[in-house]
Amino acid sequence: MQSISRQRISDLLAREKSAFAALHPRSHELAAKSAPHFLAGVQMPWLVEWESPFTVFVDKAKGTQITDVDGNTYIDLCLGDTGAMFGHSPDVLVKEIREAVDHGLTYMLPTEDGIAIAAEFEKRTGLPRWSFTLTATDANRFATRIARAITGRKKILVFDGCYHGTHDETLARLDGNVINPREGSVGPPVDLELTTRVVEFNDIAALEKELAKGDVACVLTEPALTNAGMVLPDDDFHSKLRAVTREHEVLLIIDETHTISSGPGGYTQAHGLEPDMFVIGKPIGGGIPAAVYGCTEEIATRFDALLDPEHPVVVGIGGTLAGNALSLRAVRTMLEQVITHENYEHMFEIAQRLEAGIRKTIEDNELPWHVSRMGARVEYGHTTQPRRTAHEVEETTDSELEQLLHLYCLNRGVMITPFHNMMLTSPSTSEADVDRHNELFAECVGELLTATEESS
Ligand SMILES: Cc1ncc(COP(=O)(O)O)c(C=O)c1O
Repeated sequence: MQSISRQRISDLLAREKSAFAALHPRSHELAAKSAPHFLAGVQMPWLVEWESPFTVFVDKAKGTQITDVDGNTYIDLCLGDTGAMFGHSPDVLVKEIREAVDHGLTYMLPTEDGIAIAAEFEKRTGLPRWSFTLTATDANRFATRIARAITGRKKILVFDGCYHGTHDETLARLDGNVINPREGSVGPPVDLELTTRVVEFNDIAALEKELAKGDVACVLTEPALTNAGMVLPDDDFHSKLRAVTREHEVLLIIDETHTISSGPGGYTQAHGLEPDMFVIGKPIGGGIPAAVYGCTEEIATRFDALLDPEHPVVVGIGGTLAGNALSLRAVRTMLEQVITHENYEHMFEIAQRLEAGIRKTIEDNELPWHVSRMGARVEYGHTTQPRRTAHEVEETTDSELEQLLHLYCLNRGVMITPFHNMMLTSPSTSEADVDRHNELFAECVGELLTATEESS
């Protein structure tokens, strides 16, 4: 098996950082101009996590192509970290939105599009009752509030390494037996021991032990962890998760915001999951802010029973712009015309090609790395086998090597997600797009190994 010299990684990284600066003078200028105006010196504080010395500023994007303010173009395999997973500005969405903007944008009243969306989600997930928000964070927050309201229990349970947005009770880590705020969590409001239980993903025995304490309202999870690197469920994980949650009368909330890569009804439809509640945001409006959460008839009946028919008051779940006319038109259009089985067939084919090319380079060079795929989502990691928990990912992540691979691709016109080594294929991603990534991946590996041979 091949190992790579640390010195070579840092030499190449230094070279790529200089190359990036030379290729992006206008972005550099705009980054400097932004700095005094914004918290952390960037327009959204988490932008500091991009691996480039400063971020690229975008001029425009269409399909899978992004053009920056320096005129560089990129094949976009990041796709807004799933927000633009079906391609930038799909033609059908642009057409519908152009028409819709003339009819008023938000009224605090419902439109017919909402009914079509609920019916479409029911077809895909089996869940009959729905509600709208603008972000997946809000949808998760409201789903967990409802779970607490109808069960009368105070805590929620999440898996270590989860991310469900900026939902306070989920920003938790398991450190041994102690629950701490996640690294970098800004201003946690209360001790997480009061609100949250955390166990390792794929650890059903630990889950059972925590749920047996009787104070957990719901388990909130993605079907596979995608935000700790890709951590896939063991073969029997979902059947056991469902059985244990039912046994302890704990609601199961499945967050499909990223795992919609598995198909038009997410992992839930593709694998026959039976959640009590289902959450999805990010790509469903094609870039227009929108999210939904849905539930079984039983949950809906228990929720309805909390409302006083004489004097109905609903506080704590809502949002003035939630379900606004524009976002509903966007979601309806996306569901009916873009998030379709036909488009997924193409996305899966292209993702398989991406995965196969990466695997070939790993095998040809006998690297101790692996590649995983979840439908249209592909990720490689620097261990021989996929990892089973977030701690395993953390202990084996080579941040410097990741940074180099990302920047190497970015400098040559391919953009991948700054978090982990994650890539998405959209209906407009072509064979040539993924072949270009795979060529660059092989080229970068070649550069890393050539030097290793020379230096050994
Ligand atoms: C699984 C999952 N759920 C929820 C969210 C939150 O989405 P948003 O930031 O749009 O609220 C994210 C964001 O990355 C996510 O990955």
